[in-house]
Amino acid sequence: MKFSPEEIESLSLQFESASPQEIIDWAVKNFCPNLALSSSFQTQSVPLIHMVKEAKPDMRIFFLDTGMHFWDTLFFREHLEQIWNLNIVDLRPDEKWRMVLRHFGHDLPQTDPNLCCFIRKVQPMQKAMDGLGAWITGIRREQTENRAHAKILEYKRDGLLRIAPLLNWTLDEVLDYISANNLPRHPMPLSRYPSIGCKPCTRAIQLGENERAGRWDGQGKTECGLHTEMFNQDIRAEGFKFK
Ligand code: ADX
Ligand code: SF4
Repeated sequence: MKFSPEEIESLSLQFESASPQEIIDWAVKNFCPNLALSSSFQTQSVPLIHMVKEAKPDMRIFFLDTGMHFWDTLFFREHLEQIWNLNIVDLRPDEKWRMVLRHFGHDLPQTDPNLCCFIRKVQPMQKAMDGLGAWITGIRREQTENRAHAKILEYKRDGLLRIAPLLNWTLDEVLDYISANNLPRHPMPLSRYPSIGCKPCTRAIQLGENERAGRWDGQGKTECGLHTEMFNQDIRAEGFKFK
């Protein structure tokens, strides 16, 4: 660990009043080349990609290719990669799940969404993060109950530091940044799809609904596991739980 847990706690508190750009600059200065951004390539992902590419144009950007995305998301990922010359690394499920996915993969989002997210999102991200010092993510406090308690800097599995520069931003601030900088938007309409994940687990929201009301609706789930305890667990450990 480059910084002690006490130093990280104190820096995290200081960053509560820093701008996202200041936090990103600190991350680049202290962790490159052992630093990566992860992005789901929806409209609200764009400001963070924009800021990170300004600070470090060749930063690795991890994209979880779950095999379940909307066509529009794949198109938007490709579009941003081309216009901004991004260094995107696509992450896919481990080969050992091939048979499970071939037999059950199509139905898994309905039959066992936690296992599905573990295979398609959490484990590939765990593997990609192995050996890295720090990980920049776009989570925001207002998104979920779990994220409301997150810190800007937090140690995760194996001393990996998770950095959340936008933690205090609201969706309006995200959209203001996009307008002010005239940035591209995901093709799906923002008014109906303010939060986009995999196709089977994302629906359009109705007027007045929360921005994440369309995520895993009716599936008893609000998080994929990248930002919960699931990410810290090891599948080989006794008592491992897919949740
Ligand atoms: S989710 O848990 O509900 O799917 P959300 O869409 O809010 O997550 O995104 C929060 C953060 O999780 C993103 O900023 C990104 O760091 C990471 N993330 C989510 N989905 C992906 C993806 N498909 N590829 C890479 N990172 C992702
Ligand atoms: Fe599977 Fe849905 Fe999770 Fe995507 S969001 S990995 S389809 S359960």
